[in-house]
Amino acid sequence: MKTDQASNTALIVAAGVQMLARDPAYAGLVPAAIATHGQRLLRASHPRLSSLTARHWFRSLAYTAAKFTLPGILPHYVLRKIFIRKYVARSITAGSRQIVLLGAGYDTLCMELATQYPDLKLIEIDHPATQAVKRAAAGASGAAVAAGAHRIHYIAAELGKQKLNEVLSNCKAFNPDIKTLFIAEGLLMYLTSDDIASLLKQMQMAATKTALVFTWMEIQANGQPNFRPASKIIDFLLKKKAEPFLSGMPQDQVPAFLKQLGYAMQDLKESASICPQDCRIKPIAGEYICMAQST
Ligand SMILES: C[S@@+](CC[C@H](N)C(=O)[O-])C[C@H]1O[C@@H](n2cnc3c(N)ncnc32)[C@H](O)[C@@H]1O
Repeated sequence: MKTDQASNTALIVAAGVQMLARDPAYAGLVPAAIATHGQRLLRASHPRLSSLTARHWFRSLAYTAAKFTLPGILPHYVLRKIFIRKYVARSITAGSRQIVLLGAGYDTLCMELATQYPDLKLIEIDHPATQAVKRAAAGASGAAVAAGAHRIHYIAAELGKQKLNEVLSNCKAFNPDIKTLFIAEGLLMYLTSDDIASLLKQMQMAATKTALVFTWMEIQANGQPNFRPASKIIDFLLKKKAEPFLSGMPQDQVPAFLKQLGYAMQDLKESASICPQDCRIKPIAGEYICMAQST
C-alpha cells in the first residue's frame, strides 16, 4: 500500500454497501445498522461520493462497471458483512469481551457494537493514512459520538511491518487477560502468507484467549489468489494503486494451516451460502469467511 494514501479498496467497499442500502431493489439486503452508521460515516468522510450513492444514474453506472469486471461483488460485500456480524454475535455469546478490528477501513462494526454492548472493549487498527480519514469522519459525525463511538480506540499501524502484540501492548485500552476476538475482513489478501502466519501467532502472544474471524482468497486455476471470475482490469488497477492481492489459500488447506498455528477452525463459508433465494444478483465467488478459536 502507498503509505501516504488512504486505501481505495476500503472506500469502494463502503460506497458499494451504501449504494445497495440506498437502492430500493436491495433495501431488504443491507441491515439497518450498517446502512445508518455507514451513511453517516461516508457523508462525513466523502460527502460528494455519499450524495452520488443516492443517485439512480450513478448506481446504474457502478452496477454496469461491476457487471463487466467483478459481477456480484457488491452483494458479496454486504453478505460477508452480515456473515461476520453473525460470527461476532456468536463469539460474544461464547465469552469474547474485547474486539480488535484489523484493517478496519470504513467498516462500522465497532460503532454498531458500541451501541449494543456497553461493556465490550473496542479497538480498531488500520494503516495510518486510511485511519486518519476514518477517525476524523467518526469524530465529525456527532450522531456517531452520541451512539457510543467515542468508546472505540484507534491504533494506526502497518501490519506485516509492525508486530500486532507490541502495538497492542502499547495501547492502554487493550486488556490481554480477557477473551479477544480478532477480525480481519478483506485484509489478509494484502499480506504475504508468512506475514499472516506471524500475525496469527502475534494474536496469541497479545491475548491469553483468542478467537478469530477472517476472510481470505481462494487460489484460482492460474495459481493466483483472486475472485472467480477474475478481472484483468481490476487486477491492473489494484497493482497501480499498490493494493494487489498477495496471498490466498485453497479452502481445504485452511484447517491444517490454522492447526499448526494453534487454532481450531470452527466454520468456513462462502457468501453465496447465505444469499437469499430472491437475491437479484449472485454474489461473486473466491473470497471465503472463516471462524476459528485458539486451542
Ligand atoms: C479492502 S479494505 C477492507 C476494509 C474493511 N475491513 C471492510 O471490509 O470494509 C482493506 C483495509 O486493510 C487496510 N490494510 C491493508 N494493508 C494493511 C496493513 N499492512 N496494515 C494495516 N492495515 C492494512 C487498508 O488500509 C484498508 O482499510
